[in-house]
Amino acid sequence: MPAAPDTVRPQPEMPLAHPLVDRAFIGVLVRDFYSRVRADSRLGPIFAAEITGDWEPHLEKMTDFWCSVILKNGAYSGRPVPAHLRLKQVTEADFDIWLGHFRNAAAACCPPEVAEIFVDRAERIARSLKLAMFFRLERPGVETVG
Ligand code: HEM
Repeated sequence: MPAAPDTVRPQPEMPLAHPLVDRAFIGVLVRDFYSRVRADSRLGPIFAAEITGDWEPHLEKMTDFWCSVILKNGAYSGRPVPAHLRLKQVTEADFDIWLGHFRNAAAACCPPEVAEIFVDRAERIARSLKLAMFFRLERPGVETVG
């Protein structure tokens, strides 16, 4: 028997249609998340080194980004991979810290079925950013001296 269509958990390529979730809602989540990140002893300084003046443009850009990811409204047209490749001090373990704050922010701001969708999308994007930043083919037997 074919599975019933899953209306509660849309596939990543489908927009989320939930009465609560609009740009204002996403803006609240983004601000909650970045207040956690900015207070973090490891991630706070990394962001502070990059965003030296007014945080508002970054928060608005990140709200557009999450609107594009969740609502599929095309609000964001930047390029996340080059923005992160520049951050030489970031390690793979930093992504676990980042995701921990994102999970906590989503749990604080969203009903559980909505939090689950945001967290799923964040985990997918984190995985692909990590591949872009850290994946290297090992070449056994090849000495890399110097
Ligand atoms: C340890 C993990 C991460 C760190 C330290 C980090 C740090 C940063 C910093 C410092 C910027 C600002 C760069 C700039 O303005 O030039 C930035 C931009 C951005 N980040 Fe992250 N990030 C992390 C993970 C993620 C993840 C998992 C996502 C998505 C789910 C994400 C999405 C973005 C986006 C969309 C931008 C804006 C890029 C642009 O268009 O300029 N980041 N990130």
